[in-house]
Amino acid sequence: MDSEPARPRAFSGIQPTGTVHLGNYLGALRNWAKLQETTDGVYCIVDLHALSVPREPGEIRRATIEAAKDLIAIGIDPVRSTLFVQSQVREHTELAWLMQCVAAVGELRRMTQYKDKSETNDFVSAALFTYPTLQAADILLYDTQIVPVGDDQRQHIEFTRDLANRFNSRYGDVLVVPEHQIPQAGARVMDLQHPENKMSKSADSPQGTVLLTDSEAEIARKLKRAVTDNDGEVRYDPVDKPGVSNLLAMLAVATDGDPVALADDYTQYGPLKADTSAALIELLRPVQKRRAELDDAATIALLEHGAEKARAVAGPVMERVRSAVELLA
Ligand code: TRP
Repeated sequence: MDSEPARPRAFSGIQPTGTVHLGNYLGALRNWAKLQETTDGVYCIVDLHALSVPREPGEIRRATIEAAKDLIAIGIDPVRSTLFVQSQVREHTELAWLMQCVAAVGELRRMTQYKDKSETNDFVSAALFTYPTLQAADILLYDTQIVPVGDDQRQHIEFTRDLANRFNSRYGDVLVVPEHQIPQAGARVMDLQHPENKMSKSADSPQGTVLLTDSEAEIARKLKRAVTDNDGEVRYDPVDKPGVSNLLAMLAVATDGDPVALADDYTQYGPLKADTSAALIELLRPVQKRRAELDDAATIALLEHGAEKARAVAGPVMERVRSAVELLA
């Protein structure tokens, strides 16, 4: 990461919670990898955010290493970009406190992610409430210009911009105000067992989800058992034929084809499933190969190097902030 990049700086964060599945990969993460071509990418595994709901000791450490492997395997280049773990760069929590000092309780209460989670979780931590101030700190510490995240994060990015502007009006022109960038729409991959729902790690049946770590035999088995329908016609029609359309959509992404046109090549579900499964295995093969080459020790070392690169940017920004606030040096 250059301190004055020629390319705009992009920052994104992902919580370490469970193995990446095909829906994450084809939906968002492939875009992260692509974004490295045009931006100076900073990718943060936000382990402290994951602790805002109760976790067992060790759970996050394990999940963090797995998430790093997933990200490197899908093409995040830890040399060209910066890939690091939030808790390893102490400036995040330091700036988060200062963000809490300019955030209003009323604004935090209006965050829809907080409202949703505080209704469904039995234990609502204070961290769940202040979560967006840590997210703002993540972004602002890197003089970030663009934040490529899904539409569900729009409110948090707007809040980050508000905090940056408020901070700047109080303390001078200190923080770069970032822009939200909705990434180029990735593929919407549906659950193989419940094709009316998005593929998700919380799905009730693991048979509906293809994991990045599934063996070829597992992928083939899950595809073979994918739910279709009874009319026997191969046609791309996500409303009336969600299962068959999902197969066509996945085949299209994996082969760079068009789902409507691909439907003409098939008269039966069996061969469509077989070809989709073969294409997905092919698509995931290089990803799985890279993932298998990464052992824990190598991954931890890459993350430590990433944290050093991150500190080299976050440290000076934090100094700028401290001196603007006029804290004792
Ligand atoms: N809140 C984000 C999510 O749930 C994760 C996140 C934390 C993040 N810090 C960030 C995303 C900074 C973008 C930038 O997906």
